[in-house]
Amino acid sequence: MLSSAHRDPRQFPDPHRFGIGRRNTDLLAFGHGPHYCLGAVLGRLEARIAVGSLLDRLPGLSLAHPDEDPSWRPGPIFRGLAHLSLIHT
Ligand code: HEM
Repeated sequence: MLSSAHRDPRQFPDPHRFGIGRRNTDLLAFGHGPHYCLGAVLGRLEARIAVGSLLDRLPGLSLAHPDEDPSWRPGPIFRGLAHLSLIHT
C-alpha cells in the first residue's frame, strides 16, 4: 500500500508530522527495486523548481488556519490535499 509508506515510526520518527527538513532520504515515494520510477530525477527537479519559485515570489506565505487540520482527498492510493488556505503577508 503506497499510502502506508513512510508511516513506520521505527524508520521515520514522528511519521505523521510533516517535516520538510527531514534528512532521511531512504524514501519509497518513487518505488523500490527494478521498477524504481524512471522519472524520479525529473519529479524531484520539478518539485524543487515549483516550490522554490512559489516561495521566491511569495516569501510571506503561511497557513491561513494553522491550528486546523487541512482537508484531504479520500482515496487509497495517493494522498493529496483537497484544498489548503494560505495567506500572503
Ligand atoms: C512526483 C512524481 C512521481 C512520483 C511520486 C512517481 C512514483 C512512481 C512509483 C511509486 C513508481 C513505481 C511503481 C511500481 O513499483 O509499480 C513509478 C514508476 C515509474 N515512473 Fe514515476 N513517479 C513520478 C513521476 C514520474 C515522471 C515525471 C515520469 C516520466 C517522465 C515517471 C515515469 C515512471 C515510469 C516509466 C515508471 C515505471 C518504471 C518501471 O516499471 O520500471 N514517473 N513512479
